[in-house]
Amino acid sequence: MRKNIVAGNWKMNNDLAATRTLISELESQVKTSSAEMMIAPTFTNLLEASKLLKESNIEVIAQNMHFAENGAYTGEISATMLKSIGVSTVILGHSERREYFNEDDAILKQKVEAALENNMRIVFCFGEKLEDRKSGNHFNVVENQIKNSLFHLETESWKSIVLAYEPVWAIGTGETASPDQAQEMHQFIRGLVNTKYDDLVSENISILYGGSVKPANAKEIFSNPDVDGGLIGGAALNAESFMAIVNAF
Ligand code: PGA
Repeated sequence: MRKNIVAGNWKMNNDLAATRTLISELESQVKTSSAEMMIAPTFTNLLEASKLLKESNIEVIAQNMHFAENGAYTGEISATMLKSIGVSTVILGHSERREYFNEDDAILKQKVEAALENNMRIVFCFGEKLEDRKSGNHFNVVENQIKNSLFHLETESWKSIVLAYEPVWAIGTGETASPDQAQEMHQFIRGLVNTKYDDLVSENISILYGGSVKPANAKEIFSNPDVDGGLIGGAALNAESFMAIVNAF
C-alpha cells in the first residue's frame, strides 16, 4: 500500500528562532495521522530541527543537495553531510531550483543517483509551466522530466522515490490545479511508471500534488484516487494551516 505524505517546504523562510517556534507549535498539534509528515527547513536550521524532532513522527528533510560527495563546490551540501545530521530524505528538482539555479534533467539525474547511493529517500518534483499547459504540451513535458531523470533506475530504487507533481503556474500563485486536473495528471504519471516498470512499482509509488494547497482545498485534492498527499509551500509556514492540511486525510 502506498503512503499518504504531507511535506512542508519552508523554502528560504524562518531563521533559527522562527524554526524553533514553528516546530514547537507543530509538535503541540500533532495527533496520530493517516499521513506521514515531513518538513524541509533551510540548510542552516536542519541540524537543530532534526535534533528537536528526533523522537517525533515528523521527519526533517532537505530542500536540495549537490551530487558530488565533497570537493570544490562553494556553497553546496552533500548527501553524506545530510546523513551525518540525521537527514535522510531530500527534495530534488523543485521548479525554483530548475528555474533560478538552472538545474536540468541531466543534473537532477546525477543528484538522484548520489542520493540513492547514500541510501536517501527522494521527493522528486516536476511540473509544466503555464505556456506548456496552454499549448496542451503538459503531458509531454512531465513525461520527459520523469523519463530523463528517473527511468534509468532499477525497480528496487523506486522504493526510495516519492513523486511530486507541481504545475509551475500553481506554485505560490494562489491558483491551484482543479481536483480533476490533478487527478488526470497523477493518473497519467502512474500509467507511465506502470508502462516502464510494473504494477508493484506503480501502485506503491506515492504521488504528491503541490501548488497552492491550503486547508480550504486540501480535502478535495487529496480525495482523488491517484493523489497521495501534498508538497506544501506557503501554507506550511503556519502550524494551524499545515496541520489542517495534514488532517485533511
Ligand atoms: P505553494 O508552494 O504551496 O506556496 O504554492 C508549493 C511548493 O513550491 O512546493
